[in-house]
Amino acid sequence: MSLLVIVGCQWGDEGKGKIVDFIAREADLVARYQGGNNAGHTIVVGNEKTVLHLIPSGVLYPSVHCLIGNGVVVDPLILEEEIQMLESKGLNVRDRLHIGEGAHVILPYHKLLDQAQEKMRGEGKIGTTGRGIGGAYADKVARQGVRIGDFRDKDRFAKKIQELERYYRPLFEKIFHESVPTADEVVAEVWPTQKTVLPLICDSISMINDHLSQGRRVLAEGAQGVMLDIDFGTYPYVTSSNPSTGGVCTGLGVPPRRVNSVLGVVKAYTTRVGEGPMPTELIGGVGAQLQERGGEFGATTGRPRRCGWFDACVVRRTVQVAGITSIALTKLDVLDGMEQIEVCTGYETSGGELLELMPLDPGVLQGCEPQYETLTGWNHEIIAETYDDLPEAARAYVERIEDLVGVKIEAVSIGARRKMTILRRSSFF
Ligand code: GDP
Ligand code: IMO
Ligand code: MG
Repeated sequence: MSLLVIVGCQWGDEGKGKIVDFIAREADLVARYQGGNNAGHTIVVGNEKTVLHLIPSGVLYPSVHCLIGNGVVVDPLILEEEIQMLESKGLNVRDRLHIGEGAHVILPYHKLLDQAQEKMRGEGKIGTTGRGIGGAYADKVARQGVRIGDFRDKDRFAKKIQELERYYRPLFEKIFHESVPTADEVVAEVWPTQKTVLPLICDSISMINDHLSQGRRVLAEGAQGVMLDIDFGTYPYVTSSNPSTGGVCTGLGVPPRRVNSVLGVVKAYTTRVGEGPMPTELIGGVGAQLQERGGEFGATTGRPRRCGWFDACVVRRTVQVAGITSIALTKLDVLDGMEQIEVCTGYETSGGELLELMPLDPGVLQGCEPQYETLTGWNHEIIAETYDDLPEAARAYVERIEDLVGVKIEAVSIGARRKMTILRRSSFF
């Protein structure tokens, strides 16, 4: 059995798509376990860029199978679009894409709810991607969601939508003063995707456990990052699922003992999209430089990403929560040419206490001052094929991060392209 989990260690956009794609060359099955099309995972092969929101990042290899697990929320209209986008690149997707029957469906009501709730929150808005993620998970937990398996039976599907209309119409009209589509309109919009969805439905729990029993290589692809985890992130400025390793067991139906390694993807500095605390954020100056050099604009919404120095409190908390066994450090090249690089080694609270871990309480976090250490930069472009080819100062940076977070960095990414990846071990499985 071999299950490798890949988890984002900050606030998302660490380069998970690139790392998953790189490692998927060795995999039989790549599975998404949580989130939905709020994700934007970028893969660059040669000069061709592909951005995936829902389909796992193993799909570019024609022999790799891809699974959207029960823990994912699926917008079937986006699924159709993404399949067509990949087919237009000449990839055969439908024969090797599978969706768990228990995955919940994102409906037009959820996208409208996302917008209406954000409007109502005003200044306190979360800055969601507006993709209906929160509403779909809310209906799942409220036991009134529509599942992928409901596409097997039109009457059952339509009846569930009618029940949702009875719930949403008064909510939208009385609370948000907005109108909503009728159940018939929703069915007319969504049901035609049944022809795409139906052939992909499978017993995903058996599929993944059988793969593991037969010794095949399975990669579980996290979306978002642990600081956006509903339970362990900077609540309420989080997403509505568990990007952390726990989400693998609940989202795919695999027992914890199957998880043997967890590769954490860490960006060499910190970014965040949307609202919420980010202690090492730099407004203007170096922040703007990182944004420009790193092309830090959202792969899903195009919003500029907030940028700042590497934050060890963030990654240490992730290492603890997600059980990270090794790290892939990405975007090291973005720091090329900086005379000095700072890293946040801890936070000082308003009471003068030194914290090593991101605190859960927003009140405590608000009073925290990041403590910095200054490292020397390297003043030229990184061109390297092996770890030893890296400039000495870049190796010192990598090794200081290892010390600070207590996990070995076993892959270093120095460019968006697939081949710009330096490995310090031969295989991750
Ligand atoms: P994900 O959500 O974690 O998959 O990350 P995104 O795809 O949203 O954002 C990462 C961005 O950085 C994408 O544009 C990638 O093509 C790019 N990228 C990934 N690794 C590297 C790297 O090592 N260097 C540079 N310069 N860009 C990278
Ligand atoms: P990947 O997989 C970065 C952020 C949103 C918002 C918050 C809640 O590409 O790393 P949601 O739409 O989930 O209800 O929004 O979470 N967010 C992400 N930020 N990368 C992502 O995914 C994100 N998915 C959601 O910006 O702050
Ligand atoms: Mg992204």
